Amino acid sequence: MTKNRAVKRTRWVRGGLAVAAGFGLVLSGSHALSAAERVDNPYVGADVYVNPIWSANAAAEPGGEAVADEPTGVWMDRIGAIEGNDSPTTGDMGLRDHLDEAVEQAAGEPLVFQLVVYNLPGRDCAALASNGELGPDEIDRYESEYIDPIAEILADYEDTSLRVVTTIEIDSLPNLVTNVSPRETATPECDEMLENGNYVNGVGYALGKLGAIENVYNYVDAGHHGWIGWEDNFSASAQLFYEAANTNGASPDDVHGFIANTANYSALEEDNFAVTDQVNGTSVRESQWVDWNNYTDELSFSQALRDELASIGFDSEIGMLIDTSRNGWGGPDRPAGPGPETDVDAYVDGGRYDQRIQSGNWCNQSGAGLGERPTAAPEPGIHAYVWMKPPGESDGSSEEIPNDEGKGFDRMCDPTYEGNPRNGHNMSGALPDAPVSGHWFSAQFQELLANAHPPIE
Ligand code: BGC
Repeated sequence: MTKNRAVKRTRWVRGGLAVAAGFGLVLSGSHALSAAERVDNPYVGADVYVNPIWSANAAAEPGGEAVADEPTGVWMDRIGAIEGNDSPTTGDMGLRDHLDEAVEQAAGEPLVFQLVVYNLPGRDCAALASNGELGPDEIDRYESEYIDPIAEILADYEDTSLRVVTTIEIDSLPNLVTNVSPRETATPECDEMLENGNYVNGVGYALGKLGAIENVYNYVDAGHHGWIGWEDNFSASAQLFYEAANTNGASPDDVHGFIANTANYSALEEDNFAVTDQVNGTSVRESQWVDWNNYTDELSFSQALRDELASIGFDSEIGMLIDTSRNGWGGPDRPAGPGPETDVDAYVDGGRYDQRIQSGNWCNQSGAGLGERPTAAPEPGIHAYVWMKPPGESDGSSEEIPNDEGKGFDRMCDPTYEGNPRNGHNMSGALPDAPVSGHWFSAQFQELLANAHPPIE
């Protein structure tokens, strides 16, 4: 969710957009397979688990019934969530309760269960809203009190028809690329996590342990285009992902793919401008919005990142997930076509769907809408569009709210905040009156429904 300030580039370098033909579209006949055989794309030929807790929250909202049957991620956002200790973020269902419910929903057919693994030591080092319960050095607790119990429970469901898709530790590894010294965007907390190695160790441990379970499909968090789309960040992040996948018991074989845009707001496809466009001889990359990024949207970014990852040693069959829970940007302000060609900023700003003030803004963004409904194999190289962030759950409180979840108050969630180096010192664009991260935020859910794109039928 966080990002670095754009790094100005003067050279044009980009990854290719080549995609493997037919990839991910193998209709596996998976009914006949034993649960032990991993399929190429777990979403193909499978339903996806509907979290009853999120579903009830959505259904209780006016108009919410229309999407209450959509699948969303189940977040293990602290040790207590594994047993289910009735918290405001996860309700009273523990992991086993969810898996039992998933087995029922599956009724013997393939069903994807989307599990978010999110509890690293020193979590959320470039922000405060989702700081967690484990201190920077508590890697032992992460392994023995968090990952091990999750792995033990999952192992009990190895022979079911479930396909467990994990999202591994959002907002961790890219922070070690973009938000560390000597960059202006550095935070002491991210410097510490780079130094002590516990993000890399934790991700490696999670990959190895969970990857040993035969029906688990690990997807590593890969930020989003407005974070690591700049050349300096792109290949360095890929390298770091590879390092983590070779650390502390992990091997690249434990990685089934990567997920982009988790809990973020970056548009799926910006149709009205492209990085290759020029206005009066000036490249779109020089616009304020694009700011020398090599990508303008999540689809092109994800496909290029997949190629990059395959080129540095990951399996060439890895697939991408894109979180489209809140990147729809529909409603009355959605541009119907390209902006005027008076200058490059008018052109980009007049045409872009993403209405954020700056692409580094990440907290409860005003004007956002639900994005593409969850879909299997929508594009080459993309395993699925998913709603990993349950829409309607806050990104962080807009003012200080005491809590016992370790969550801080990040000014990026305060609509009056004028920004920091990580969003180029812009206004935060956050909605007012938001609760602590993970808590239900009715006003946001209403806005997401109203601004959905595609619109809600
Ligand atoms: C929060 C978690 C929550 C998740 C999903 C995160 O921002 O820190 O507690 O489970 O969002 O809403």
